[in-house]
Amino acid sequence: MVQKALLSLLVLAVYSAYAAEIRHVRSSRAPSSSPVELPAAPFVVSLTDKVPRSSAKKQALRELRGRASSSQTATIAGSDDDEEYLTSITVGGHNFTAIVDTGSSDTWLAQVGFSCFSLDSTPIPAADCFFGSAGFDPSTSKSFVSFPDTNFNISYGDGEFLTGAVGFDTVTIGGLTVTHQEIGLVTHAAWEGDTVSSGLIGLAYPGLTSVYNGSNPDLDGANNSLLYNPFFFSAVQEKAVKEPFFSVALNRGSFAEETNSTLDPNLGFLAFGGIAPVEVTKTSVTVPVQGFETTSGTSGFFFYAVDVDSWVFPGSNKRHTAGSVILDTGTTLNYVPTQIAAEFNSKFKPPATFDEDEDTYFVDCDATAPAFSATIGGVEFTVDPKDQILPFLDDTGNVVCISGTQDGGPAEADNIFILGDTFLHNVVATFNIAENNITISERVAY
Ligand SMILES: *[C@@H]1O[C@H](CO)[C@@H](O)[C@H](O)[C@H]1NC(C)=O
Ligand SMILES: *[C@@H]1O[C@H](CO)[C@@H](O)[C@H](O)[C@H]1NC(C)=O
Ligand SMILES: *[C@@H]1O[C@H](CO)[C@@H](O)[C@H](O)[C@H]1NC(C)=O
Ligand SMILES: *[C@@H]1O[C@H](CO)[C@@H](O)[C@H](O)[C@H]1NC(C)=O
Ligand SMILES: *[C@@H]1O[C@H](CO)[C@@H](O)[C@H](O)[C@H]1NC(C)=O
Ligand SMILES: *[C@@H]1O[C@H](CO)[C@@H](O)[C@H](O)[C@H]1NC(C)=O
Repeated sequence: MVQKALLSLLVLAVYSAYAAEIRHVRSSRAPSSSPVELPAAPFVVSLTDKVPRSSAKKQALRELRGRASSSQTATIAGSDDDEEYLTSITVGGHNFTAIVDTGSSDTWLAQVGFSCFSLDSTPIPAADCFFGSAGFDPSTSKSFVSFPDTNFNISYGDGEFLTGAVGFDTVTIGGLTVTHQEIGLVTHAAWEGDTVSSGLIGLAYPGLTSVYNGSNPDLDGANNSLLYNPFFFSAVQEKAVKEPFFSVALNRGSFAEETNSTLDPNLGFLAFGGIAPVEVTKTSVTVPVQGFETTSGTSGFFFYAVDVDSWVFPGSNKRHTAGSVILDTGTTLNYVPTQIAAEFNSKFKPPATFDEDEDTYFVDCDATAPAFSATIGGVEFTVDPKDQILPFLDDTGNVVCISGTQDGGPAEADNIFILGDTFLHNVVATFNIAENNITISERVAY
């Protein structure tokens, strides 16, 4: 049996270089709620789940919370149950397991001989990064090409950070192959791994990629950033896939599977070129991805951000709040504006309670969860109450439960909120990177 720590999985790139400068730009394109017929995907890979991460992360997160300063970091510094979605990736002929993340853009692997650090940058044994392999060895790949005088440098919302080298190699995910994909090769990792995955597949926009000119990561910033096409963007450009969309269906895992096995093999699908193969209802909507503007006057796409028209739960009066909301497979819970979280959590029977030390709403495991939905593009998407109460084992082996919907910070225009796996368990999200729109399709209840 694996001890589950009270931890956050917030694999969401921290957009440090521009964090203070980005402004939400509203797209004028109207949503379309006419039912969308998306083709079946030619490339499909199953998702599996691996639960435990190092319990050291709990303490590290607490420490980090005190240091959080940017609004991005503050917004996402919650704590929650660990859960992540993994799949297989082949790089240069070698197979690895990697996290599937729509909240960041770089695809990276640990490189053999990497150095491991704690989140406060203290060197620790390599084993303590808990990667699932010794890492990728570029010298064993016939197709690898290095990208000299550049560096890979990324920080995630939960305090993890990585630096390393950059190269190109043949990458295959779900049968879809890109022959010259830019990837990060991690040589320095502050990473609280899961003992299964050795890297991550970033599916968000080129504007969020994290490769820089020069070999010294300490000099990295907006002026030496070398943006590039992430895996799926390359696939579309290389015409390796006909339709420019990918789709995710994340199944909710079972507590029994999570607690008693290391891998839950049946956690949904990542699909390329069509919709993920799960049953959907006729309820769907296509909405524009919301872009962001930098102070330099340029605007672009970074995250898969959408406008949420209103939050719907008993007593909410279908309230609209400021700020954008991203669809992020790499974040377990929903992080909604403070007031929405407070009111929603008060509606559990008995009410959920906020624990200041853990910065988390806890709830009775036998509580009744209130109805909850988010209206997007005029269509209401309901979250199954099953997703609103997450059991985990605390340090003493007792089962305790946390709320699936947590405080993501004040409802301010520049804040970014998250619809994470709590929400995504209930829909299929299909991301069109050419049209910059997202089709959200309601799943048949399961
Ligand atoms: C979304 O993109 C598709 C192209 O795949 C396009 O046909 C459709 O009009 C777009 N929908 C909206 C609402 O913009
Ligand atoms: C790597 O994964 C692919 C696809 O899952 C599989 O066909 C192949 O046999 C695997 N190769 C090795 C060396 O495990
Ligand atoms: C990196 O910067 C140097 C110096 O400004 C420049 O000569 C070089 O072309 C840049 N490299 C890339 C890949 O852009
Ligand atoms: C790059 O890494 C250094 C530490 O090695 C860090 O101080 C810096 O903020 C990072 N820059 C970016 C853009 O992530
Ligand atoms: C980018 O700006 C930083 C800080 O202004 C500077 O130290 C660094 O040398 C610059 N990097 C490049 C590649 O120009
Ligand atoms: C895990 O397995 C043990 C031993 O079979 C059992 O007692 C326990 O109830 C299981 N836990 C869950 C959550 O199903």
